[in-house]
Amino acid sequence: MRKKIVIGNWKMNMTRGETKSLLTIVKESVKDNTVDVAFAVPFTDIETARDVLEDTNIIVGAQNVHTEPRGAYTGEISVEMLKDLGVDCCIVGHSERRKYFGETDEIVNKKAKVLIEANIIPVICVGETLDEREQGIHLDLIRTQVKKALADIESTRAEEVIIAYEPLWAIGTGVTASSEQAEEVCSFIRYIVAEVYGVSISENVRILYVGSVNENNAKELFAMENIDGALVGGASLKPTFIEIINAAKE
Ligand code: 13P
Repeated sequence: MRKKIVIGNWKMNMTRGETKSLLTIVKESVKDNTVDVAFAVPFTDIETARDVLEDTNIIVGAQNVHTEPRGAYTGEISVEMLKDLGVDCCIVGHSERRKYFGETDEIVNKKAKVLIEANIIPVICVGETLDEREQGIHLDLIRTQVKKALADIESTRAEEVIIAYEPLWAIGTGVTASSEQAEEVCSFIRYIVAEVYGVSISENVRILYVGSVNENNAKELFAMENIDGALVGGASLKPTFIEIINAAKE
């Protein structure tokens, strides 16, 4: 039985003061641990988030990591630095990083591997543009993204990986994939994971939906067999994020 997980991705939002205010409200409502909850916050908010959430099971995550352990990489953050701050999960291959910062499948794979090595859960994002969907090539593309991202990750560690399906046409647009469209691709991703690691491991890997998830559509998405939660952008910046977490509990 896979435990659902709801991850807020704050992107480039929230000062330390805002972090403290929102997390203080949210943590009061997330006392039981039937669902995993995480916040992937900007690097500058990690310590504040850790402090506020110290007495809870809520996971603090990051949104990026560099592939190299240390060195002359101005502006970058290493896995050791994340570990030192108590980060337990990290997004890799988000569509915004692929689009604006040239993150390739090979880089995504390297990042996933350094995170696994450091016992930080990689949240690997994959997904297609509207154009790719309309051309009917989205499943082939997702197969390639998933396989390349998982290359050389040992089967003994595979169950720690989280894969997040983000149809790019549903990111920050207010358009959500229908639950059937989301389920179709999430179940396809599980099938690809089974091709790589076998069915029993694939049954334990958590696969999330990403794209305009809110308190009104979360319940229907979470009811789908192969959707084990969500990576939530805009709707994780408000106290109503609690309603999305609650939708995962039922
Ligand atoms: P929205 O939920 O704002 O569409 O963002 C999705 C996302 O990119 C989460 O990482």
